[in-house]
Amino acid sequence: MQTELAREDQSRSPEQRLRPQRSRTDCPILLSPRLVLRAPHEDDIDALAHLANNANIANMVSRMPHPYTTADAADFVRRAKAGTIGKCVYAITKADNGAFLGCCGVEPHADERTVELGYWLGEPYWNQGYATEAAQTLTDMAFRTRDIDQIDARCRVMNIASRRVIQKCGFQFQGSGMVGSLALGGMVPVEWYRLDRKTWVSLRSWGGVR
Ligand SMILES: CC(C)(COP(=O)(O)OP(=O)(O)OC[C@H]1O[C@@H](n2cnc3c(N)ncnc32)[C@H](O)[C@@H]1OP(=O)(O)O)[C@@H](O)C(=O)NCCC(=O)NCCS
Repeated sequence: MQTELAREDQSRSPEQRLRPQRSRTDCPILLSPRLVLRAPHEDDIDALAHLANNANIANMVSRMPHPYTTADAADFVRRAKAGTIGKCVYAITKADNGAFLGCCGVEPHADERTVELGYWLGEPYWNQGYATEAAQTLTDMAFRTRDIDQIDARCRVMNIASRRVIQKCGFQFQGSGMVGSLALGGMVPVEWYRLDRKTWVSLRSWGGVR
């Protein structure tokens, strides 16, 4: 029986083997070498309000108010807990001491074949590879647990650090456009990137692009 199963598995392509039979909608806790990605909770509110109250962050993401208050942080945690099916919001925390560093998440598009990746980190934690580590971990989770074909990511044209994170995760440039910015109160130019499932499978067999 085992041999039969093994033979059946070998006859499937790597892409088929890594595609889940059925999409999960839950958001499992994720571990990476230095990080734990888990649901945000009330204990995060102070650190979240402190780190997110930063125009250098709010101006780069689409839906973060600025200034960012404790009430905004509490509302964010409440909404993350209420959840939307298929959407995962994670607190990015340090594995060694539990410190709250920022947030990331994936949100399904209406077509159900695509999820959108998003992330931000508190400024004291920039340029230490944390966003790349979180984004790669989230990307693996999305392709392993969801029956999706691709992951999209967008960044402001001027956002050099985020573009670099997206590139280090293997995403490819698709085009440019405009999206709304809550903090800036208008539309801003963005670049649109995509990682398709086939490319992700290839990157895995190369050992990633880190
Ligand atoms: C974008 C952001 C998440 C990056 O987080 P991070 O943990 O610093 O990212 P990483 O350390 O994994 O990678 C950053 C990369 O950008 C590079 N980088 C950063 N600033 C740079 C600059 N001014 N010029 C050139 N490269 C720069 C870093 O050198 C690094 O690349 P490398 O590993 O090849 O050296 C963080 O800056 C942030 O939260 N910014 C505000 C919110 C935001 O932009 N969110 C994304 C919205 S699309």
